[in-house]
Amino acid sequence: MRLWGGRFEGGPADALARLSVSVHFDWRLVPYDLLASRAHARVLNRAGLLSDDELARMLAAIDDLEEACRSGAFRPTVADEDVHTALERGLLERLGTLGGKLRAGRSRNDQIATDLRLYLRDHVRTIVSRLVELETALMSQAEQHADTAAPGMTHLQHAQPVSFGHQLLAHVHPLTRDIERLRDWDRRAAVSPLGSGALAGSSLPLDPQAVAAELGFDAAAPNSMDAVADRDFAAEFLFCAAMIGIHLSRLGEEIVLWASQEFRWIEMDDAYSTGSSIMPQKKNPDVAELARGKSGRLIGSLMSLLTTLKGLPLTYNRDLQEDKEPVFDAVDTLLLVLPAVSGLVSTMRVNTAKLESSASDGFALATDLAELLVRKGVVFREAHEAVGHLVVWCQVNDKEFGDLTDEELAKISPHFGGDVRDVLSVPGALASRKAYGGTAPDRVRDQLAALREAVDAQAAWATGA
Ligand code: ARG
Repeated sequence: MRLWGGRFEGGPADALARLSVSVHFDWRLVPYDLLASRAHARVLNRAGLLSDDELARMLAAIDDLEEACRSGAFRPTVADEDVHTALERGLLERLGTLGGKLRAGRSRNDQIATDLRLYLRDHVRTIVSRLVELETALMSQAEQHADTAAPGMTHLQHAQPVSFGHQLLAHVHPLTRDIERLRDWDRRAAVSPLGSGALAGSSLPLDPQAVAAELGFDAAAPNSMDAVADRDFAAEFLFCAAMIGIHLSRLGEEIVLWASQEFRWIEMDDAYSTGSSIMPQKKNPDVAELARGKSGRLIGSLMSLLTTLKGLPLTYNRDLQEDKEPVFDAVDTLLLVLPAVSGLVSTMRVNTAKLESSASDGFALATDLAELLVRKGVVFREAHEAVGHLVVWCQVNDKEFGDLTDEELAKISPHFGGDVRDVLSVPGALASRKAYGGTAPDRVRDQLAALREAVDAQAAWATGA
């Protein structure tokens, strides 16, 4: 059953039919296509092109078809080119010739662009809900570990002690930005292509604005040619998805490190770790690794669509059918990965003792020492030098800062007195970083309170509450 048989004498070659078919992946658009069909039927009725009785029968048939699709009683066949073809067949089966009236003023070009926007706006809300769950898991751990000192790193080398809660919240902020990006995306995606027809609009007295409102869009597209050609919304969604993938990958990489024998910062729950088929002792961070690995396909999906779009002339070109699989794969991937990462984070046990005992390793309080000297009036450049010498002296003599006697300190620099020991405290070092945005546990608690408010608003947006 083709939608375009009239001017052709023969049927399509098998090779063309196989190349052309998209119903095996666009079938998931059924609920959105039918939603748009209901809106279109109403607009045809208002335009006097469908009687009240016909409209009632049409809407009943659409409901019946939707139920049949849901139950599996109606399935696409190999002869259905795409979801639109299959659903028109379903309406013809139910309504006879009346089923063919719905196509008036409508093309698959404006239909598919509308369906994909509806699908994405719906699924973006689900993705945001899953992101909120991950934010919440990270924030709960951060709340418990605001006072837990941890080695803070740059270049993966011990740098300065930080609150482990601060570090966990540093993974929440990127996710809040991801959600804000999706909310911002949603404003631009809220434009309805329906009514644009194939490319030029319709000579029938349709009402694209009314259709847009009925479908929950903010407006109808102001240019029919742009409306059927535009896939910015799909590419922009894929960028948002790729960025989320990158954030999950960076978190995943940290968790892989934290769970290693070398770090031992966390113990993963059995439910979120895997074993080895040969080494009985192994407990592997597969969830974190898959989160890291899946970022590759998310980035790939973005590249794939951008490459497809580049250089396409106006308006609709069949190339655009290639927009759907990367978009669907990105949605599926995020909905698969996010719950697993949330579970991993919420169930991991933090090894507080290990974190605290290594927080000052690698002379991580050196900056605090230098800043003590600055407070005593020493030029920072000199203070930096003096502490640097102290580090070398300690390394050569196999000592920590805390082991040094007053005589040893004085020998290295006249600036060092016994008060040096006052700043050689990890809790003191944390508490002293109390300016806005710093790692002082009190600031971390403030930060957490502000984040909770922002995340509540994000959760409410996702559910329409
Ligand atoms: N299956 C097509 C797609 O996904 C629908 C639009 C087809 N339009 C056309 N004129 N062939 O893009």
